Amino acid sequence: MKRPSYLLIGLIISTLLAGCSQPAGSGSGQGGSAGAQFVNEHLVFAHALYVPPLLQPRLEKGEKIFDLDMQSGATEFFAGKQTATLGFNGAYLGPTIRANSGDKVRLNVTNRLSETTTVHWHGMHLPAVMDGGPHQIIAPGATWQPYWTITNQAATLWYHPHLMGKTGEQVYRGLAGLFIVDDANSAALDLPGEYGIDDIPLIVQDRLFDPNGQLIYQMHGPNPGLPPAAGMIGDTILVNGTVAPYVDLPRTLVRLRLLNASNGRRYNFGFADNYPFYQIASDGGLLEAPVQRTRLLLGAAERAEILVDLRDTSGPLTLLSYAVIANNDFVSGIAKGTFGPNAENQQFKILELRPQAGDFAARSIPAQLNTIKRLDAAAATQTRRFSLDSNSINGKEMDPNRIDVVVQKGAVEIWEVRNESPLYHPFHVHDVQFLVLSRNGQAPPAWEQGWKDTVIVDPAETVRLIMQFTDYADPHMPSMFHCHILEHEDMGMMGQFVVVDNLSDPVGIAPQSGGALDGHPMNP
Ligand code: C2O
Ligand code: CU
Ligand code: CU
Repeated sequence: MKRPSYLLIGLIISTLLAGCSQPAGSGSGQGGSAGAQFVNEHLVFAHALYVPPLLQPRLEKGEKIFDLDMQSGATEFFAGKQTATLGFNGAYLGPTIRANSGDKVRLNVTNRLSETTTVHWHGMHLPAVMDGGPHQIIAPGATWQPYWTITNQAATLWYHPHLMGKTGEQVYRGLAGLFIVDDANSAALDLPGEYGIDDIPLIVQDRLFDPNGQLIYQMHGPNPGLPPAAGMIGDTILVNGTVAPYVDLPRTLVRLRLLNASNGRRYNFGFADNYPFYQIASDGGLLEAPVQRTRLLLGAAERAEILVDLRDTSGPLTLLSYAVIANNDFVSGIAKGTFGPNAENQQFKILELRPQAGDFAARSIPAQLNTIKRLDAAAATQTRRFSLDSNSINGKEMDPNRIDVVVQKGAVEIWEVRNESPLYHPFHVHDVQFLVLSRNGQAPPAWEQGWKDTVIVDPAETVRLIMQFTDYADPHMPSMFHCHILEHEDMGMMGQFVVVDNLSDPVGIAPQSGGALDGHPMNP
């Protein structure tokens, strides 16, 4: 059956809303404008932030070996209530993997769940067969052992399941973790870097709970028969799996690594009273120079690293998400009107930073962070156009047996992504990091001029990306490009590309069984 198009639904809803007045909202929150709703103004930050442990590798034959066990368990998000959850090496989320550029790594990923899964290394440049996309299936009880040499530069990457049709639910129930890469440049910079002390990972997720504290997952949204327009949206914010969290921090310069690991929601991060911060990294690495900001919008799957100078604070500092779209315009009207109470007009508290006095080394913010070797648009051999509909790309839904794009190894390409639907879509490409050339013809702002693997494309926007497909070719194993609203992805808003040594090479999908697919290629 053909699913209804969001555009059509949007038109109907906007017509319905046209006669309504502005909804009641506080409109008075910090930086709030008419229509914004401060939904958890009275939240009390009651729980110390959990920080996922660093996963210690074993060294064997020059490889760093990391063991990940996917398991089910119970998590006490709310006192006295055990929530059924999934995790890596624990009940919810996973440990932080940390390695250096140049390291040879091997992961032993054991599936102790009762269902099939995969584990994808989001943002990593690696051979398609190691990528953990929908083709690298891990059956219950099986261990998958991908290995590669890290060539990414210092960056905050992450890992999560990627099983066709089930990614949204498996991530939602807890399967996600960080993968931090360091390199010589990041080590030489005098940045806060003591994990869990002044360098804090913040995995931000929204969840919906029933009265017994169990997670509610609705792939098809609260309205039977209608698709979940904005993905699965929750009303409770978790940071590293902690509800209503606070974190004690040294009253000095601190670094926060933000990951939006939500299924669909995006966050317009900012501190109370517009306390400034400095963005130093985007998805794929450090920016060339810090950018002072008061707001930072992250779509699903995007990351950013920021520095906050706590020496100027007088007390605790609240991290909020401000309304993304405050006004009752076309887009927020759709979200507010029909698809549940949670929408982009919401403002909410996320985390309280509690600076602690002490004797800390004075540290200033480096003026230069990185050198970015910009790809030359004139060198691009292809410009490909991707039109995003509500649940398809270029009018097609994902077919695991279809290769949508064939790329010549080494090629520089421009991917021009246009959003024809009334909702934002975070467009993600596996294997490569890209640079944003333009948004609707305009050069991107400074903070969007670093390496990225996921990019927000707003309604009616055209975003031009440039990327190079180096090192790995495999005519029989595709990599994915897709919308990272996980319910959109699961419904088919995804396509596949292969990289080939020669465009004349025959391509096709290898059968989904046998050695080539379980991380042990026949001819490594
Ligand atoms: Cu984070 Cu294809 O995924
Ligand atoms: Cu990915
Ligand atoms: Cu989407």
